[in-house]
Amino acid sequence: MTSSLLDSLHNRLDITRVPFSDRGSRLMVFCEPGADCLYVKLAERLTVLQPDIDAYRYRPPFITNLCFINARGAPLGFTVETWPHVLLFHTELGDFGLTFHHDRALTFGLPPGKTAGLSFHVAPQFWEKTEQGGVFKAIRDLTYVTNTAILQNEITPEAGGYRVALIVDAGEDVAVTLTVGAPDPEGDLSPGFHAARVASEQRWRAWFSRVPPVAERYLDAYAYAWWIMSNNLINPQGRVAYEAMIPSKISYVGLWLWDSAMHALAYRHVDPELARNQLRAMLACQLDDGMLPDAVYDEGVISEIDHPIRAEVTKPPILAWAALKLHETDPDLDFLKEIYVPLVRWNAWWFAMNDDDVDGLAQYNHPYSSGLDDSPLWDYGMPVETPDLNTYLCVQMGSLAIIAEALGMDAEGAMWRRRAKAIVHRMIEDLWDEEAGVFRAAHHDAPVPVITPFNLYPLWTGQLPDDILQRLLDHLTNPEEFWGEFVLPSVARNDPHFEPATMWRGPVWVNINYFFVEALEQIGAHALASVLREKTLALVMRHPSIYEYYNAETGEPPVTAADIFGWTAAVFIDLAIQASARSSDDEGEQG
Ligand code: GLC
Repeated sequence: MTSSLLDSLHNRLDITRVPFSDRGSRLMVFCEPGADCLYVKLAERLTVLQPDIDAYRYRPPFITNLCFINARGAPLGFTVETWPHVLLFHTELGDFGLTFHHDRALTFGLPPGKTAGLSFHVAPQFWEKTEQGGVFKAIRDLTYVTNTAILQNEITPEAGGYRVALIVDAGEDVAVTLTVGAPDPEGDLSPGFHAARVASEQRWRAWFSRVPPVAERYLDAYAYAWWIMSNNLINPQGRVAYEAMIPSKISYVGLWLWDSAMHALAYRHVDPELARNQLRAMLACQLDDGMLPDAVYDEGVISEIDHPIRAEVTKPPILAWAALKLHETDPDLDFLKEIYVPLVRWNAWWFAMNDDDVDGLAQYNHPYSSGLDDSPLWDYGMPVETPDLNTYLCVQMGSLAIIAEALGMDAEGAMWRRRAKAIVHRMIEDLWDEEAGVFRAAHHDAPVPVITPFNLYPLWTGQLPDDILQRLLDHLTNPEEFWGEFVLPSVARNDPHFEPATMWRGPVWVNINYFFVEALEQIGAHALASVLREKTLALVMRHPSIYEYYNAETGEPPVTAADIFGWTAAVFIDLAIQASARSSDDEGEQG
Protein backbone atom coordinates (compact mmCIF):
# COMPACT_ATOMS: atom_id res chain seq x y z
CA MET A 1 0.00 0.00 0.00
CA THR A 2 2.76 2.43 0.94
CA SER A 3 4.28 3.12 -2.44
CA SER A 4 0.86 3.28 -4.06
CA LEU A 5 -0.27 6.07 -1.69
CA LEU A 6 2.29 8.39 -3.22
CA ASP A 7 1.49 7.09 -6.69
CA SER A 8 -2.23 7.65 -6.13
CA LEU A 9 -1.49 11.36 -5.70
CA HIS A 10 -0.24 11.64 -9.27
CA ASN A 11 -2.03 14.67 -10.77
CA ARG A 12 -4.22 15.03 -7.65
CA LEU A 13 -2.74 18.39 -6.61
CA ASP A 14 -4.44 21.27 -8.36
CA ILE A 15 -1.64 23.81 -7.99
CA THR A 16 -3.80 26.64 -9.27
CA ARG A 17 -5.56 26.31 -5.87
CA VAL A 18 -3.29 24.45 -3.46
CA PRO A 19 0.41 25.08 -2.93
CA PHE A 20 3.25 22.89 -4.07
CA SER A 21 5.27 23.01 -0.88
CA ASP A 22 7.26 20.61 1.27
CA ARG A 23 7.53 19.42 4.83
CA GLY A 24 8.97 22.26 6.90
CA SER A 25 9.01 24.83 4.11
CA ARG A 26 7.43 28.27 4.15
CA LEU A 27 7.53 28.51 0.35
CA MET A 28 4.39 27.88 -1.64
CA VAL A 29 4.44 27.58 -5.40
CA PHE A 30 1.22 28.11 -7.33
CA CYS A 31 0.41 28.07 -11.02
CA GLU A 32 -1.33 31.20 -12.27
CA PRO A 33 -4.71 29.98 -13.60
CA GLY A 34 -4.96 30.37 -17.37
CA ALA A 35 -1.39 31.66 -17.74
CA ASP A 36 1.86 29.81 -18.38
CA CYS A 37 3.60 31.04 -15.28
CA LEU A 38 4.10 30.33 -11.59
CA TYR A 39 4.20 32.49 -8.50
CA VAL A 40 5.70 31.94 -5.06
CA LYS A 41 4.12 33.04 -1.80
CA LEU A 42 5.60 32.96 1.69
CA ALA A 43 3.72 31.18 4.49
CA GLU A 44 4.98 33.80 6.92
CA ARG A 45 3.11 36.51 8.78
CA LEU A 46 6.06 38.95 8.68
CA THR A 47 4.42 41.31 11.17
CA VAL A 48 7.62 43.36 11.09
CA LEU A 49 6.54 44.44 7.60
CA GLN A 50 2.87 44.95 8.35
CA PRO A 51 1.76 44.79 11.98
CA ASP A 52 -1.75 43.66 11.04
CA ILE A 53 -1.93 39.99 12.07
CA ASP A 54 -4.00 39.06 8.99
CA ALA A 55 -1.92 40.99 6.41
CA TYR A 56 -0.18 37.82 5.17
CA ARG A 57 -3.42 36.67 3.60
CA TYR A 58 -3.53 39.62 1.21
CA ARG A 59 0.18 40.34 0.66
CA PRO A 60 1.19 39.89 -3.00
CA PRO A 61 3.43 36.95 -3.88
CA PHE A 62 7.20 37.32 -3.36
CA ILE A 63 7.98 35.98 -6.83
CA THR A 64 5.57 36.45 -9.74
CA ASN A 65 5.53 35.74 -13.43
CA LEU A 66 7.96 32.86 -13.17
CA CYS A 67 8.15 31.53 -16.75
CA PHE A 68 10.15 28.93 -18.59
CA ILE A 69 11.91 30.57 -21.53
CA ASN A 70 13.64 29.45 -24.70
CA ALA A 71 17.07 30.55 -26.07
CA ARG A 72 15.57 33.84 -27.27
CA GLY A 73 13.97 34.57 -23.90
CA ALA A 74 10.41 33.90 -25.12
CA PRO A 75 8.06 32.27 -22.56
CA LEU A 76 7.04 28.68 -23.25
CA GLY A 77 3.54 27.29 -22.91
CA PHE A 78 3.24 24.22 -20.67
CA THR A 79 0.98 21.58 -19.23
CA VAL A 80 1.79 20.52 -15.71
CA GLU A 81 2.02 17.05 -14.20
CA THR A 82 1.92 17.05 -10.39
CA TRP A 83 3.29 14.82 -7.65
CA PRO A 84 3.88 15.68 -4.00
CA HIS A 85 7.65 15.62 -4.62
CA VAL A 86 7.95 17.05 -8.12
CA LEU A 87 6.16 19.13 -10.73
CA LEU A 88 6.86 18.38 -14.38
CA PHE A 89 6.13 21.05 -16.96
CA HIS A 90 5.75 19.70 -20.48
CA THR A 91 6.79 22.28 -23.10
CA GLU A 92 7.66 22.19 -26.80
CA LEU A 93 11.36 22.20 -25.78
CA GLY A 94 10.94 19.23 -23.47
CA ASP A 95 10.31 18.87 -19.72
CA PHE A 96 11.16 21.39 -17.05
CA GLY A 97 10.85 20.20 -13.47
CA LEU A 98 10.56 21.63 -9.96
CA THR A 99 11.41 20.02 -6.64
CA PHE A 100 12.46 21.15 -3.16
CA HIS A 101 16.20 20.97 -2.57
CA HIS A 102 15.61 21.98 1.08
CA ASP A 103 13.00 23.98 2.93
CA ARG A 104 14.14 27.34 1.50
CA ALA A 105 15.36 26.17 -1.90
CA LEU A 106 13.41 25.45 -5.07
CA THR A 107 15.37 23.52 -7.67
CA PHE A 108 14.30 23.72 -11.30
CA GLY A 109 15.41 21.18 -13.87
CA LEU A 110 15.79 22.18 -17.52
CA PRO A 111 15.18 20.02 -20.60
CA PRO A 112 18.35 17.98 -21.28
CA GLY A 113 20.47 19.15 -24.18
CA LYS A 114 18.52 22.37 -24.72
CA THR A 115 19.39 26.03 -24.30
CA ALA A 116 16.69 27.42 -22.04
CA GLY A 117 16.11 29.26 -18.82
CA LEU A 118 13.80 31.00 -16.39
CA SER A 119 12.49 34.50 -16.05
CA PHE A 120 10.70 35.92 -13.05
CA HIS A 121 9.82 39.06 -11.19
CA VAL A 122 10.90 39.40 -7.57
CA ALA A 123 9.83 42.11 -5.14
CA PRO A 124 12.27 42.06 -2.23
CA GLN A 125 11.10 45.49 -1.04
CA PHE A 126 7.97 46.36 0.81
CA TRP A 127 6.88 49.97 0.96
CA GLU A 128 3.87 51.97 1.94
CA LYS A 129 2.92 55.59 2.45
CA THR A 130 2.32 56.57 6.04
CA GLU A 131 0.58 59.64 7.42
CA GLN A 132 3.96 61.25 8.03
CA GLY A 133 5.70 60.07 4.87
CA GLY A 134 6.61 56.55 3.82
CA VAL A 135 8.49 53.44 4.84
CA PHE A 136 10.58 50.89 2.92
CA LYS A 137 11.43 47.48 4.32
CA ALA A 138 13.14 44.39 2.98
CA ILE A 139 11.20 41.14 2.83
CA ARG A 140 13.53 38.21 2.22
CA ASP A 141 16.79 37.61 0.38
CA LEU A 142 16.66 35.72 -2.88
CA THR A 143 19.65 33.88 -4.32
CA TYR A 144 19.70 32.03 -7.62
CA VAL A 145 22.46 29.73 -8.80
CA THR A 146 22.97 27.22 -11.57
CA ASN A 147 25.33 24.29 -12.09
CA THR A 148 26.05 25.08 -15.71
CA ALA A 149 27.44 27.81 -17.95
CA ILE A 150 25.34 30.98 -18.03
CA LEU A 151 24.56 32.43 -21.46
CA GLN A 152 22.47 35.36 -20.32
CA ASN A 153 21.79 36.77 -16.89
CA GLU A 154 19.80 39.98 -16.88
CA ILE A 155 18.48 41.82 -13.87
CA THR A 156 16.27 44.74 -14.79
CA PRO A 157 14.41 47.07 -12.41
CA GLU A 158 10.70 46.58 -13.06
CA ALA A 159 7.51 47.66 -11.30
CA GLY A 160 9.05 48.23 -7.90
CA GLY A 161 11.11 45.04 -8.04
CA TYR A 162 13.37 43.31 -10.50
CA ARG A 163 12.90 41.17 -13.54
CA VAL A 164 15.43 38.37 -13.86
CA ALA A 165 16.06 36.45 -17.08
CA LEU A 166 18.54 33.62 -16.89
CA ILE A 167 19.40 31.51 -19.92
CA VAL A 168 21.84 28.64 -19.58
CA ASP A 169 23.75 26.30 -21.80
CA ALA A 170 22.57 22.93 -22.91
CA GLY A 171 23.47 20.21 -20.44
CA GLU A 172 22.39 16.75 -19.35
CA ASP A 173 21.27 17.48 -15.79
CA VAL A 174 20.92 21.20 -15.36
CA ALA A 175 19.56 22.77 -12.20
CA VAL A 176 18.67 26.34 -11.34
CA THR A 177 18.07 26.80 -7.62
CA LEU A 178 16.17 29.72 -6.09
CA THR A 179 16.79 30.15 -2.37
CA VAL A 180 14.52 32.41 -0.35
CA GLY A 181 15.96 33.49 3.00
CA ALA A 182 19.33 32.52 4.37
CA PRO A 183 21.35 30.47 1.89
CA ASP A 184 22.36 27.01 3.04
CA PRO A 185 25.83 27.22 4.66
CA GLU A 186 26.75 24.08 2.70
CA GLY A 187 25.83 25.90 -0.52
CA ASP A 188 22.60 25.69 -2.46
CA LEU A 189 24.04 24.43 -5.67
CA SER A 190 22.24 21.18 -6.26
CA PRO A 191 24.59 18.77 -8.07
CA GLY A 192 21.84 18.52 -10.62
CA PHE A 193 18.09 18.35 -10.80
CA HIS A 194 17.98 14.56 -10.85
CA ALA A 195 19.66 14.15 -7.45
CA ALA A 196 17.36 16.73 -5.84
CA ARG A 197 14.30 15.06 -7.31
CA VAL A 198 15.36 11.60 -6.15
CA ALA A 199 16.11 12.87 -2.63
CA SER A 200 12.71 14.55 -2.43
CA GLU A 201 10.93 11.44 -3.66
CA GLN A 202 12.75 9.37 -1.03
CA ARG A 203 11.62 11.74 1.72
CA TRP A 204 8.01 11.50 0.59
CA ARG A 205 8.15 7.72 0.20
CA ALA A 206 9.60 7.43 3.71
CA TRP A 207 6.71 9.54 5.02
CA PHE A 208 4.07 7.38 3.36
CA SER A 209 5.86 4.17 4.37
CA ARG A 210 4.96 4.80 8.03
CA VAL A 211 1.24 5.26 7.42
CA PRO A 212 -0.99 2.50 8.88
CA PRO A 213 -3.14 0.57 6.40
CA VAL A 214 -6.85 1.38 6.04
CA ALA A 215 -9.76 -0.12 4.09
CA GLU A 216 -9.59 0.31 0.32
CA ARG A 217 -12.56 2.69 0.14
CA TYR A 218 -10.74 5.39 2.13
CA LEU A 219 -7.43 5.23 0.28
CA ASP A 220 -7.75 8.14 -2.13
CA ALA A 221 -8.74 10.71 0.46
CA TYR A 222 -6.42 9.08 3.00
CA ALA A 223 -3.38 9.62 0.75
CA TYR A 224 -4.41 13.23 0.15
CA ALA A 225 -4.93 13.79 3.90
CA TRP A 226 -1.43 12.47 4.66
CA TRP A 227 -0.05 14.76 1.94
CA ILE A 228 -1.67 17.69 3.80
CA MET A 229 -0.23 16.47 7.12
CA SER A 230 3.28 16.75 5.71
CA ASN A 231 2.78 19.69 3.37
CA ASN A 232 1.38 21.95 6.13
CA LEU A 233 4.36 21.46 8.45
CA ILE A 234 6.72 24.37 9.10
CA ASN A 235 10.19 24.28 10.61
CA PRO A 236 10.90 26.05 13.91
CA GLN A 237 11.50 29.80 13.66
CA GLY A 238 11.12 32.49 16.33
CA ARG A 239 8.35 31.63 18.79
CA VAL A 240 7.55 28.43 16.88
CA ALA A 241 9.88 26.24 18.89
CA TYR A 242 9.19 22.85 17.26
CA GLU A 243 8.42 21.53 13.81
CA ALA A 244 4.67 22.03 13.75
CA MET A 245 1.63 21.97 11.54
CA ILE A 246 -0.23 25.12 10.58
CA PRO A 247 -3.94 24.67 9.82
CA SER A 248 -3.50 25.74 6.18
CA LYS A 249 -0.39 27.22 4.62
CA ILE A 250 -2.70 29.29 2.43
CA SER A 251 -4.93 30.91 5.01
CA TYR A 252 -3.88 30.12 8.58
CA VAL A 253 -0.22 30.84 9.18
CA GLY A 254 0.57 30.06 12.80
CA LEU A 255 -0.15 27.33 15.34
CA TRP A 256 -3.59 27.36 16.90
CA LEU A 257 -4.09 25.79 20.28
CA TRP A 258 -6.87 23.29 19.73
CA ASP A 259 -5.95 22.68 16.08
CA SER A 260 -2.52 21.51 17.31
CA ALA A 261 -4.16 18.93 19.56
CA MET A 262 -6.23 17.59 16.64
CA HIS A 263 -3.19 17.49 14.34
CA ALA A 264 -1.33 15.42 16.93
CA LEU A 265 -4.05 12.74 16.72
CA ALA A 266 -2.95 11.93 13.18
CA TYR A 267 0.81 12.31 13.70
CA ARG A 268 0.73 9.77 16.54
CA HIS A 269 0.18 7.09 13.86
CA VAL A 270 3.42 7.86 11.99
CA ASP A 271 5.76 9.75 14.30
CA PRO A 272 4.91 9.92 18.03
CA GLU A 273 7.61 12.51 18.69
CA LEU A 274 6.24 14.80 15.99
CA ALA A 275 2.82 14.34 17.63
CA ARG A 276 4.17 15.25 21.07
CA ASN A 277 5.91 18.28 19.57
CA GLN A 278 2.55 19.69 18.44
CA LEU A 279 1.57 19.92 22.13
CA ARG A 280 5.02 21.08 23.25
CA ALA A 281 4.96 23.92 20.71
CA MET A 282 1.88 25.34 22.44
CA LEU A 283 2.99 24.64 26.01
CA ALA A 284 6.30 26.40 25.27
CA CYS A 285 4.29 29.64 25.00
CA GLN A 286 2.34 29.29 28.26
CA LEU A 287 1.91 32.66 29.95
CA ASP A 288 2.94 33.37 33.55
CA ASP A 289 -0.60 33.00 34.88
CA GLY A 290 -1.03 29.57 33.27
CA MET A 291 -3.03 30.73 30.26
CA LEU A 292 -2.25 29.25 26.85
CA PRO A 293 -2.46 31.64 23.91
CA ASP A 294 -4.98 31.29 21.12
CA ALA A 295 -2.21 31.08 18.52
CA VAL A 296 1.56 31.21 18.14
CA TYR A 297 3.47 32.51 15.14
CA ASP A 298 7.12 33.33 14.36
CA GLU A 299 7.11 36.84 15.83
CA GLY A 300 4.71 36.45 18.72
CA VAL A 301 1.65 34.94 20.34
CA ILE A 302 -2.00 35.96 20.14
CA SER A 303 -3.46 36.12 23.62
CA GLU A 304 -5.75 39.12 23.27
CA ILE A 305 -7.98 40.31 20.42
CA ASP A 306 -9.86 43.60 20.19
CA HIS A 307 -12.85 42.53 18.09
CA PRO A 308 -15.77 41.98 18.40
CA ILE A 309 -14.80 42.87 21.98
CA ARG A 310 -11.41 43.30 23.61
CA ALA A 311 -10.55 40.36 25.86
CA GLU A 312 -7.97 37.65 26.41
CA VAL A 313 -8.19 34.87 23.82
CA THR A 314 -7.37 31.22 24.14
CA LYS A 315 -8.94 28.05 22.76
CA PRO A 316 -10.82 25.08 24.29
CA PRO A 317 -8.83 23.01 26.80
CA ILE A 318 -8.27 19.71 24.99
CA LEU A 319 -4.51 19.24 25.38
CA ALA A 320 -4.68 16.80 28.31
CA TRP A 321 -7.21 14.67 26.44
CA ALA A 322 -4.99 14.70 23.33
CA ALA A 323 -1.90 13.84 25.40
CA LEU A 324 -3.66 10.69 26.61
CA LYS A 325 -4.55 9.75 23.05
CA LEU A 326 -0.84 9.95 22.22
CA HIS A 327 -0.06 7.89 25.30
CA GLU A 328 -2.49 5.20 24.10
CA THR A 329 -0.62 4.66 20.83
CA ASP A 330 2.89 5.26 22.18
CA PRO A 331 3.09 5.12 25.99
CA ASP A 332 5.59 7.66 27.28
CA LEU A 333 5.58 8.40 31.00
CA ASP A 334 8.39 10.93 30.66
CA PHE A 335 6.22 13.00 28.35
CA LEU A 336 3.28 12.83 30.76
CA LYS A 337 5.58 13.93 33.55
CA GLU A 338 6.91 16.79 31.43
CA ILE A 339 3.47 18.19 30.65
CA TYR A 340 1.53 17.42 33.85
CA VAL A 341 2.35 20.62 35.78
CA PRO A 342 1.82 22.95 32.78
CA LEU A 343 -1.55 21.26 32.22
CA VAL A 344 -2.53 21.63 35.88
CA ARG A 345 -1.65 25.35 35.69
CA TRP A 346 -3.70 25.64 32.52
CA ASN A 347 -6.67 23.99 34.22
CA ALA A 348 -6.30 26.28 37.24
CA TRP A 349 -6.29 29.36 34.98
CA TRP A 350 -9.77 28.52 33.70
CA PHE A 351 -11.30 28.44 37.16
CA ALA A 352 -9.26 31.32 38.58
CA MET A 353 -9.71 33.83 35.76
CA ASN A 354 -12.88 32.73 33.98
CA ASP A 355 -15.52 32.20 36.64
CA ASP A 356 -16.82 35.65 37.61
CA ASP A 357 -19.68 34.31 39.73
CA VAL A 358 -17.39 31.72 41.35
CA ASP A 359 -19.99 28.99 40.88
CA GLY A 360 -17.48 26.37 39.73
CA LEU A 361 -18.56 26.65 36.08
CA ALA A 362 -16.17 28.46 33.75
CA GLN A 363 -17.14 31.06 31.14
CA TYR A 364 -15.82 32.24 27.81
CA ASN A 365 -14.86 35.92 27.94
CA HIS A 366 -14.13 36.25 24.23
CA PRO A 367 -16.09 34.46 21.47
CA TYR A 368 -12.88 33.22 19.84
CA SER A 369 -11.80 31.40 23.01
CA SER A 370 -14.55 28.90 22.25
CA GLY A 371 -13.03 28.20 18.82
CA LEU A 372 -16.57 28.86 17.52
CA ASP A 373 -15.89 32.42 16.42
CA ASP A 374 -19.22 33.65 15.03
CA SER A 375 -21.57 31.13 16.67
CA PRO A 376 -24.97 32.62 17.57
CA LEU A 377 -24.21 31.46 21.11
CA TRP A 378 -22.30 34.76 21.47
CA ASP A 379 -24.97 36.98 19.85
CA TYR A 380 -26.46 37.84 23.23
CA GLY A 381 -23.27 39.17 24.82
CA MET A 382 -20.20 37.98 26.70
CA PRO A 383 -19.22 36.37 29.01
CA VAL A 384 -21.06 33.09 28.41
CA GLU A 385 -20.99 30.06 30.71
CA THR A 386 -21.33 27.10 28.39
CA PRO A 387 -21.90 23.36 28.42
CA ASP A 388 -19.11 22.82 25.88
CA LEU A 389 -16.43 24.60 27.92
CA ASN A 390 -17.40 22.85 31.13
CA THR A 391 -17.51 19.52 29.34
CA TYR A 392 -13.97 20.11 28.02
CA LEU A 393 -12.92 20.92 31.57
CA CYS A 394 -14.60 17.76 32.88
CA VAL A 395 -12.81 15.68 30.22
CA GLN A 396 -9.59 17.52 31.01
CA MET A 397 -9.82 16.77 34.71
CA GLY A 398 -10.67 13.14 33.93
CA SER A 399 -7.52 13.04 31.77
CA LEU A 400 -5.46 14.68 34.52
CA ALA A 401 -6.72 11.92 36.87
CA ILE A 402 -5.40 9.22 34.55
CA ILE A 403 -2.10 11.05 34.07
CA ALA A 404 -1.68 11.60 37.83
CA GLU A 405 -2.34 7.91 38.50
CA ALA A 406 0.05 6.85 35.75
CA LEU A 407 2.68 8.96 37.51
CA GLY A 408 1.95 7.26 40.85
CA MET A 409 -0.02 10.15 42.40
CA ASP A 410 -3.16 8.26 43.35
CA ALA A 411 -4.54 10.78 45.83
CA GLU A 412 -4.20 13.54 43.28
CA GLY A 413 -5.87 11.31 40.71
CA ALA A 414 -8.81 10.78 43.08
CA MET A 415 -9.08 14.54 43.58
CA TRP A 416 -9.34 15.10 39.81
CA ARG A 417 -12.04 12.44 39.58
CA ARG A 418 -14.05 14.17 42.31
CA ARG A 419 -13.69 17.50 40.54
CA ALA A 420 -14.70 16.04 37.17
CA LYS A 421 -17.80 14.56 38.80
CA ALA A 422 -18.62 17.81 40.60
CA ILE A 423 -18.58 19.86 37.42
CA VAL A 424 -21.14 17.51 35.86
CA HIS A 425 -23.42 18.08 38.85
CA ARG A 426 -22.93 21.83 38.57
CA MET A 427 -23.88 21.73 34.88
CA ILE A 428 -27.03 19.75 35.66
CA GLU A 429 -27.99 22.18 38.42
CA ASP A 430 -27.33 25.38 36.51
CA LEU A 431 -27.49 24.69 32.79
CA TRP A 432 -29.95 21.81 32.29
CA ASP A 433 -33.25 22.92 30.76
CA GLU A 434 -35.75 20.22 31.69
CA GLU A 435 -38.43 21.53 29.37
CA ALA A 436 -36.27 21.71 26.25
CA GLY A 437 -34.18 18.67 27.17
CA VAL A 438 -30.84 20.37 26.46
CA PHE A 439 -28.07 22.10 28.37
CA ARG A 440 -28.24 25.86 27.90
CA ALA A 441 -25.44 28.35 27.57
CA ALA A 442 -25.97 31.24 29.99
CA HIS A 443 -25.15 34.93 29.76
CA HIS A 444 -25.40 36.55 33.21
CA ASP A 445 -27.63 33.65 34.35
CA ALA A 446 -30.05 34.13 31.42
CA PRO A 447 -30.29 31.14 29.06
CA VAL A 448 -29.02 31.89 25.53
CA PRO A 449 -31.90 31.01 23.13
CA VAL A 450 -29.87 29.05 20.58
CA ILE A 451 -29.66 25.29 20.00
CA THR A 452 -26.38 23.87 18.74
CA PRO A 453 -24.51 20.57 19.14
CA PHE A 454 -22.65 22.34 21.96
CA ASN A 455 -25.87 22.21 23.96
CA LEU A 456 -25.58 18.40 23.83
CA TYR A 457 -21.88 18.28 24.71
CA PRO A 458 -22.16 16.94 28.27
CA LEU A 459 -22.82 13.56 26.61
CA TRP A 460 -19.03 13.40 26.43
CA THR A 461 -18.64 13.49 30.23
CA GLY A 462 -19.96 9.93 30.31
CA GLN A 463 -21.49 10.74 33.70
CA LEU A 464 -25.07 11.79 32.96
CA PRO A 465 -28.17 10.15 34.44
CA ASP A 466 -30.02 7.92 31.94
CA ASP A 467 -33.02 10.21 31.45
CA ILE A 468 -30.85 13.21 30.53
CA LEU A 469 -28.67 11.05 28.31
CA GLN A 470 -31.67 9.77 26.39
CA ARG A 471 -33.08 13.23 25.83
CA LEU A 472 -29.76 14.45 24.43
CA LEU A 473 -29.55 11.43 22.11
CA ASP A 474 -33.09 12.18 20.91
CA HIS A 475 -31.97 15.67 19.90
CA LEU A 476 -28.78 14.41 18.28
CA THR A 477 -30.63 11.92 16.07
CA ASN A 478 -33.52 14.21 15.21
CA PRO A 479 -33.33 15.07 11.47
CA GLU A 480 -35.12 18.36 12.06
CA GLU A 481 -32.24 19.41 14.28
CA PHE A 482 -28.95 17.60 13.70
CA TRP A 483 -29.25 14.28 11.87
CA GLY A 484 -29.40 13.71 8.11
CA GLU A 485 -26.92 13.16 5.30
CA PHE A 486 -24.55 15.96 6.32
CA VAL A 487 -23.97 15.83 10.05
CA LEU A 488 -23.59 17.58 12.44
CA PRO A 489 -24.67 21.13 11.59
CA SER A 490 -23.07 23.59 14.02
CA VAL A 491 -26.51 25.13 14.71
CA ALA A 492 -29.73 23.07 14.78
CA ARG A 493 -31.40 23.10 11.35
CA ASN A 494 -34.70 24.28 12.84
CA ASP A 495 -33.12 27.07 14.89
CA PRO A 496 -33.87 30.55 13.47
CA HIS A 497 -30.13 31.35 13.63
CA PHE A 498 -29.24 28.47 11.26
CA GLU A 499 -27.22 29.56 8.18
CA PRO A 500 -25.89 26.44 6.44
CA ALA A 501 -22.85 28.09 4.80
CA THR A 502 -21.70 30.63 7.42
CA MET A 503 -18.77 29.39 9.46
CA TRP A 504 -20.00 28.40 12.96
CA ARG A 505 -23.62 29.40 12.27
CA GLY A 506 -24.57 26.13 10.57
CA PRO A 507 -21.83 24.36 8.58
CA VAL A 508 -20.48 20.94 9.51
CA TRP A 509 -17.05 20.88 11.20
CA VAL A 510 -15.51 17.44 11.42
CA ASN A 511 -13.56 18.07 14.63
CA ILE A 512 -16.91 18.47 16.39
CA ASN A 513 -18.09 15.21 14.83
CA TYR A 514 -14.94 13.58 16.17
CA PHE A 515 -15.79 14.63 19.72
CA PHE A 516 -19.29 13.19 19.32
CA VAL A 517 -17.92 9.90 17.98
CA GLU A 518 -15.71 9.82 21.05
CA ALA A 519 -18.64 10.65 23.35
CA LEU A 520 -20.91 8.03 21.80
CA GLU A 521 -18.27 5.31 22.09
CA GLN A 522 -17.73 6.26 25.69
CA ILE A 523 -21.41 5.90 26.62
CA GLY A 524 -21.63 2.59 24.77
CA ALA A 525 -23.67 3.89 21.79
CA HIS A 526 -21.32 2.07 19.42
CA ALA A 527 -23.72 1.65 16.51
CA LEU A 528 -24.57 5.34 16.47
CA ALA A 529 -20.88 6.20 16.75
CA SER A 530 -20.20 4.05 13.67
CA VAL A 531 -22.90 5.77 11.67
CA LEU A 532 -21.58 9.20 12.60
CA ARG A 533 -18.04 8.10 11.77
CA GLU A 534 -19.06 6.82 8.33
CA LYS A 535 -21.11 9.93 7.54
CA THR A 536 -18.15 12.11 8.48
CA LEU A 537 -15.74 10.12 6.33
CA ALA A 538 -18.22 10.13 3.42
CA LEU A 539 -18.62 13.91 3.61
CA VAL A 540 -14.86 14.51 3.35
CA MET A 541 -14.56 11.96 0.51
CA ARG A 542 -17.11 13.80 -1.66
CA HIS A 543 -14.48 16.37 -2.68
CA PRO A 544 -11.07 16.16 -4.33
CA SER A 545 -9.57 18.44 -1.66
CA ILE A 546 -10.10 18.69 2.12
CA TYR A 547 -11.76 21.79 3.60
CA GLU A 548 -12.25 23.68 6.82
CA TYR A 549 -16.03 23.23 6.94
CA TYR A 550 -18.94 22.10 4.79
CA ASN A 551 -22.37 23.49 3.93
CA ALA A 552 -24.81 21.61 6.17
CA GLU A 553 -27.44 21.34 3.43
CA THR A 554 -25.41 20.60 0.30
CA GLY A 555 -22.19 19.10 1.71
CA GLU A 556 -20.21 21.53 -0.49
CA PRO A 557 -17.34 23.62 0.92
CA PRO A 558 -18.42 27.30 1.00
CA VAL A 559 -15.97 29.64 -0.78
CA THR A 560 -14.96 31.02 2.61
CA ALA A 561 -13.83 27.60 3.89
CA ALA A 562 -10.03 27.23 3.91
CA ASP A 563 -8.54 24.61 1.59
CA ILE A 564 -6.04 21.84 2.61
CA PHE A 565 -7.33 22.16 6.15
CA GLY A 566 -5.33 20.52 8.91
CA TRP A 567 -7.77 19.16 11.44
CA THR A 568 -10.18 17.92 8.76
CA ALA A 569 -7.26 15.90 7.33
CA ALA A 570 -6.20 14.73 10.80
CA VAL A 571 -9.72 13.71 11.84
CA PHE A 572 -10.28 11.96 8.52
CA ILE A 573 -7.11 9.94 9.08
CA ASP A 574 -7.90 8.98 12.65
CA LEU A 575 -11.52 8.08 11.86
CA ALA A 576 -10.49 6.05 8.80
CA ILE A 577 -8.05 4.11 10.96
CA GLN A 578 -10.74 3.57 13.61
CA ALA A 579 -13.32 2.47 11.04
CA SER A 580 -10.87 0.10 9.35
CA ALA A 581 -9.85 -1.46 12.67
CA ARG A 582 -13.50 -1.97 13.56
CA SER A 583 -14.43 -3.56 10.24
CA SER A 584 -11.48 -5.94 10.46
CA ASP A 585 -12.57 -6.82 14.04
CA ASP A 586 -16.03 -7.60 12.67
CA GLU A 587 -14.54 -9.78 9.96
CA GLY A 588 -12.48 -11.49 12.63
CA GLU A 589 -15.59 -12.12 14.71
CA GLN A 590 -17.53 -13.41 11.72
CA GLY A 591 -14.63 -15.63 10.74
C1 GLC B 1 -10.93 29.65 13.00
C2 GLC B 1 -11.76 28.70 13.84
C3 GLC B 1 -10.99 28.26 15.08
C4 GLC B 1 -9.66 27.66 14.65
C5 GLC B 1 -8.88 28.64 13.78
C6 GLC B 1 -7.63 28.03 13.17
O1 GLC B 1 -10.74 30.85 13.67
O2 GLC B 1 -12.97 29.29 14.21
O3 GLC B 1 -11.72 27.31 15.81
O4 GLC B 1 -8.91 27.31 15.77
O5 GLC B 1 -9.69 29.07 12.72
O6 GLC B 1 -7.98 26.92 12.40
